[in-house]
Amino acid sequence: MSIWKVLDKVREFVVYDADKEFYAKVFPDSVERKDLMRLRRMRHEDLPLILQIEAKNYNFPWSEAIFKDCMNSMHYSCWICEELDVIVGYSIVSMAAGEAHIMNINVDPAVQGQGVGSKLLEHMIEVARKKAESIFLEVRPSNKAAIALYEKRGFNEIGIRKGYYPAENGRREDAVMLALELVNLF
Ligand SMILES: CC(C)(COP(=O)(O)OP(=O)(O)OC[C@H]1O[C@@H](n2cnc3c(N)ncnc32)[C@H](O)[C@@H]1OP(=O)(O)O)[C@@H](O)C(=O)NCCC(=O)NCCS
Repeated sequence: MSIWKVLDKVREFVVYDADKEFYAKVFPDSVERKDLMRLRRMRHEDLPLILQIEAKNYNFPWSEAIFKDCMNSMHYSCWICEELDVIVGYSIVSMAAGEAHIMNINVDPAVQGQGVGSKLLEHMIEVARKKAESIFLEVRPSNKAAIALYEKRGFNEIGIRKGYYPAENGRREDAVMLALELVNLF
């Protein structure tokens, strides 16, 4: 494809996106919410907002240093989902030796239940399947919303990790391990 055709494609995308945002502002009911959500790579300047969402959802949130380590490592792929330039969720997947691992997937409580988690999960699967044959994750057995999200996408339980998570009063909580084969996935 010539460089001009590539530029035309880029322009088509940008104009289309800008139209959607224009219509969303002028005629809010004419545009579906999912059309306004965009995925892009996480940047260091996103961290203040990410840390706020992290603290809203987890009793044991990741520190800034953990996010920075992930962003600085070639083995991690870090993405955010934004809606009209506001960060609504993010996810991080690690990849090594043909295996991918979803390390974090988190959606602002204000927009949960509106498709952000599914969009992020689908994207992380697409990112992972370029390099990995299977994708794994851990989830607290009490986290029914997350388990429903993963099972809906075809993840299967493959075991329990004893005492994997920190819990209140210095205790530990088990994790359910889930996996999805990426080979021949459609
Ligand atoms: C789990 C989480 C990522 C889901 O994101 P979300 O944007 O709310 O999910 P979606 O709107 O895309 O929902 C997709 C599916 O997940 C399931 N789901 C989501 N919220 C649910 C809830 N409260 N109860 C039951 N199922 C739920 C449903 O199967 C849903 O499909 P449906 O809409 O067809 O019923 C979100 O709740 C979250 O960020 N939770 C806090 C952080 C967390 O626990 N992360 C996972 C760590 S392992």
